[in-house]
Amino acid sequence: MEVLVTGGLGFIGSHTVVELLEDGYQVVVIDDLSNSSIDVVDKIKEITGKDFVFYQKNVCDLDALDMIFQKHSIQAVLHFAGYKAVGESVQKPILYYENNLLSTLHLCQKMLEYGCYKFIFSSSATVYGDPEVLPLTEKCKVGGTTNPYGTSKFMIEQILKDIHVSNPKFTPVILRYFNPIGAHPSGYLGEKPNGIPNNLMPYIVRVASGELEILSVFGDDYDTPDGTGVRDYIHVVDLAKGHLCALKKALGEDGVFVYNLGTGCGYSVLDLVHNFEKVNGVKVPYKIVDRRPGDIASCYADPSLALQELGWKAELGLEDMMRDSYRFILKQNEK
Ligand code: UD1
Repeated sequence: MEVLVTGGLGFIGSHTVVELLEDGYQVVVIDDLSNSSIDVVDKIKEITGKDFVFYQKNVCDLDALDMIFQKHSIQAVLHFAGYKAVGESVQKPILYYENNLLSTLHLCQKMLEYGCYKFIFSSSATVYGDPEVLPLTEKCKVGGTTNPYGTSKFMIEQILKDIHVSNPKFTPVILRYFNPIGAHPSGYLGEKPNGIPNNLMPYIVRVASGELEILSVFGDDYDTPDGTGVRDYIHVVDLAKGHLCALKKALGEDGVFVYNLGTGCGYSVLDLVHNFEKVNGVKVPYKIVDRRPGDIASCYADPSLALQELGWKAELGLEDMMRDSYRFILKQNEK
């Protein structure tokens, strides 16, 4: 069965392509390389020993989508492509809304035109805004997003539900990711943000490897056990496997489905730092600084619906995430 993966060379997309190939799917990837590297094509082939088709195109490009749907018998789409830097989205809202919304609209338009109805969407726990209760279930209130990136995810969720109403065969599976970290255990695939990282894990690994001097911990006066922010970190390989389960669900049933993909465990910033030091035997110097505007104290999932309906749960622990993240960066730096 042929499936289309948009953004298939990015952090989460590439790990999902590996799982899809290993499960026997024929994969077509579209990626414009705006936040990914062409090397990833060979890395995926090396890990899996399998081939796939790659188009260097932007998902907003209707002619490119026409060409792909004409050439391939696409049965389902996994849509990862999108801009995701929170701070940049505040500076460039038009760019973020244009790219994230238009790509999804064009993709859905072409899917309906070519009779393809199964759509797996990368959403985010950010759609819950500042949580009223924890752990977060899929029934919790959504909205109240504080930046255009988060709002684009919230809007797309609504758009997908509206398309389903107009055509009940159109089946979106909306996956709300918590905090994806880690890397492929081979050390070949991982997260490689351009410039100075904004997210915690990419920053920690660069401090540990000596590329950056010191980690700034954004606030130690939150209402959490050690005062630092608590999040639900999930290994990217577990997350990728969640997409396969979601795909099987969509292929077997019509409807609208929404799942949290998290572990259900909350860890603080200092938990990560100390665990990273212990697992990898390196120091991560840090200093406490002011809170980062827009941050919340705690956010973690109730992932039980995904277990119940998809048979999926995260298997890897914090130590795996710490070890694999560091292995990837060391391998990068070997070159
Ligand atoms: C962020 C995004 C979220 C997105 C997710 C993707 C914001 C406000 N939210 O989540 O929309 O879906 O990334 O993974 O950016 N921290 C530090 N020092 C740092 C970096 C982070 O102390 O240098 C702390 C933060 O205050 C937070 C925790 O680490 O408590 C996690 O931060 P981060 O990795 O940026 O993720 P989120 O903010 O949870």
